[in-house]
Amino acid sequence: DPNVSPYEMIGGEQTVRQLVKAFYARVRVHPDLFPIFPGDWKETERKQYLFLTQFLGGPPLFSQEFGHPMLRVRHMPFPVTPKRAEAWLSCMRQAMDDIKLEGEIRDYVWERLVQTAHHMINTEEEAE
Ligand code: HEM
Repeated sequence: DPNVSPYEMIGGEQTVRQLVKAFYARVRVHPDLFPIFPGDWKETERKQYLFLTQFLGGPPLFSQEFGHPMLRVRHMPFPVTPKRAEAWLSCMRQAMDDIKLEGEIRDYVWERLVQTAHHMINTEEEAE
């Protein structure tokens, strides 16, 4: 059904909450990732919940609170290297495993996240 959003197909609010929780549980302990985060994990997780809801075609929660996502601009204060993009994606893949998100909808969500993660790269590896 083309009228059913990816958000609904994965299971809506409950699934998005589970996914971001499982994701940051991994980011928080990933040696390449945790040092560049501000450390307010509750707020980071909340923003990602608002964003992913909107990204997957659910209610526009992120924009209601923060305006246009401009995701690449919002990442400029943080050095996102190719290595960190791969680390981010590996945490997300494992989070999808953790919550048992499977099937075609997983593949669809994954492809969009891979594209977005690569788009966020703003720093060369050697500039570290
Ligand atoms: C914010 C890192 C990719 C969505 C952030 C922050 C960091 C970060 C350090 C600041 C956290 C905070 O302000 O609480 C990274 C790294 C990535 C990556 C290393 C590797 C490619 C992505 C992707 C998405 C995303 C692919 C979306 C699918 C967000 C959102 C915020 C955020 C929505 C909050 C923006 C704001 O309101 O300030 N990210 N990120 N990030 N990230 Fe990422």
